[in-house]
Amino acid sequence: MNDAGANTSSTSSLDHSRAPFAEALAELAKASHAGEFVRASVPGHLADPDSGVARFFGSDLTHLDIAPLTDGLDADPAGGATPLDEARQLAADAWGGQRTWFLTGGASQGNLAACLALRSASSALAPNSDSASVDVVVQRSVHSSVMDGMALAGLHPIAVMPAVDADRGMAHGLTPELLDEALHNDPGAIGVYVVSPSYFGAVSDIAGLARVAHAHGVPLVVDEAWGAHLGFHPDLPLNALRLGADLVICSTHKLGGSLGQSAMVHLGRGPWAELLGDHVDRTLRMITSTSESGLLIASLDLARRDLMTSPEQIADSVQAVNEIRAALRQDPRFGIVTDDFVNSAEVFAIDPMRVVIDTRGTGLTGHEVRHRLFHHHGMQVEMSTDAVIVGLIGAGRRVDGDRLVKGLRDMPHGNAQLVALNRLPSPGDRLMPLRQAIFAESELVSATAAVGRISADSMAAYPPGVPNVLPGEVVTADNIAFLQAAAAAPHGYVRGAHDPAVDQVRVLATRL
Ligand SMILES: Cc1ncc(COP(=O)(O)O)c(C=O)c1O
Repeated sequence: MNDAGANTSSTSSLDHSRAPFAEALAELAKASHAGEFVRASVPGHLADPDSGVARFFGSDLTHLDIAPLTDGLDADPAGGATPLDEARQLAADAWGGQRTWFLTGGASQGNLAACLALRSASSALAPNSDSASVDVVVQRSVHSSVMDGMALAGLHPIAVMPAVDADRGMAHGLTPELLDEALHNDPGAIGVYVVSPSYFGAVSDIAGLARVAHAHGVPLVVDEAWGAHLGFHPDLPLNALRLGADLVICSTHKLGGSLGQSAMVHLGRGPWAELLGDHVDRTLRMITSTSESGLLIASLDLARRDLMTSPEQIADSVQAVNEIRAALRQDPRFGIVTDDFVNSAEVFAIDPMRVVIDTRGTGLTGHEVRHRLFHHHGMQVEMSTDAVIVGLIGAGRRVDGDRLVKGLRDMPHGNAQLVALNRLPSPGDRLMPLRQAIFAESELVSATAAVGRISADSMAAYPPGVPNVLPGEVVTADNIAFLQAAAAAPHGYVRGAHDPAVDQVRVLATRL
C-alpha cells in the first residue's frame, strides 16, 4: 500500500532540520526583546509589555508577532530568495510537489482559491467549452467552502453522491468507477474535486481517481484537509500529491501540528499542475490578507520540520493509537469502526490516527459518551454522531490513551433510543446554476410550500453531512421529510437551515 517513508528527510536532498522562516522570525524577536529592533509599525501593540495582549499571552508572543514585508523574513530588496521562499520550497519538497503556498485562512481559504483557479484556468483546460457554464465533477460531501468557492467562481458542480454508511451516519469517498461514469456523462467537465480522507479516516483510491481524471483530460483536485500527516511514515497511507493529484488542499493545523487556522496548498507535477500553478498564485492573492500572521506561517514551517525529522515520534503515536484500539477490542460494548472499512469498496486505505468507536453497545449515543468523557474524565474528543465518537491524535503527538480507555470502560449502561438513519433521499433536479441561485431574489416560505420550488440555500443533515439540497436544486418532499426528521432527532442538526427545525426554507422568489 505504501512506499516506505515516502516523505522523510532521508529521501530528500534538502536540509529538513531547518525551519528558515521560523528561525528568521526568532532572530528578529530576539532583537526586538533586546531593544535592538524597535518597531513603529503594525501590529500596533508594538510588542509593548504593558499592552493587553502582552500581559495576557506573554511578551514572547508579541515580540514574535511581526508583520509581513519585513526584510530578512519575507522581503529582500535585492530580490533574492527569502526565508519564506525557502520555507515554502521545503514544504513542497516534503509533500512531494513542485510548489507550496502557506495559508492563514485554513483549508477553507485553500478551497476557495482552488475553485477560483479552476475557473481562471478553464479556457486553457477546455478551450472549446462554453464559458457560460463551466462544469466540475465534485464529490457531493465536500466541505461547504468548496461549494462556496464554486459559487464565487461561477463553476457548475456536477455533484456525485459518495457511498454512505447509513448504519453509522458516515459518508465515504468516490471510487474510480463512479468518477469514470460521471466524466463519461459530462464530457465537458474541466476538473474533478474530491475529499480524502474522510472525517472518519477513510482514504479514497487517489491513484485510481487521478488515472481516471487524467484519462478524461482533466485535473484532480483533492481536499486533503484531514490528511496533512499522510505519507510521513510507512505506517501511514501515502498522500494525495504522491499518488498523482494535481492540486491538494491541506489543513496542516488539523493533524499536521501547526497552529489553528494555518494550512497549505500544494501543487503536483505534470501538465495539469503546470497549467494550474499561476492561476493558484493569482487567485490566492485575491483572498489573502495583506497582513498575514507570521506566527501562523512560522508554525507551518515548524510543523513541516517535525513531520520530516521525527519518524520515531510518529511511529510512537501510531503505536499508541493501535494500543487504544487493541484495549477497546477487549470490551465487547465497543466496536472499532475502521476495522469494518476493509469491507467497503470505496475505502482504499485507513488513516490510523483516528480512533473511531461505535458506542452503541453501551446503550449510549456517541454524543452522550463524548459529553461524559468531557465532564467526568476531562477528555475532549473531536466529534460524535449518534453511533460513534472520533478521537484524533496528531502525528508525532502523545495522548493519554489509558485515560481514554478507562473513561470508556467506566461508561454506565444507558438505554438510548437510537434513531436509525433513513436512506438518503435523492437530491432534486438542478434547475438553476449554483451561483445564480445564491444571488437571485429569494423568499422564506413554509417547508411544505417550498416543495417543488428552487432552493436558495444549501442544507445538509448531520449525520452524515452530505448536502441534501443545494442552491439551484428543486426542494423535494422526500428531502424535507429527511431534513426535518434529522433536525428532530436528539443531537441531529441541519447545517444551512434557516431555523433549527427546518420549518421554513429559503427559495427563489421566481418560479420556473
Ligand atoms: C473536508 C474539509 N475541508 C476543509 C475544511 C476547512 O478547513 P479549515 O477549518 O482549515 O478552514 C474542513 C473543516 O473541517 C473539512 O472537513
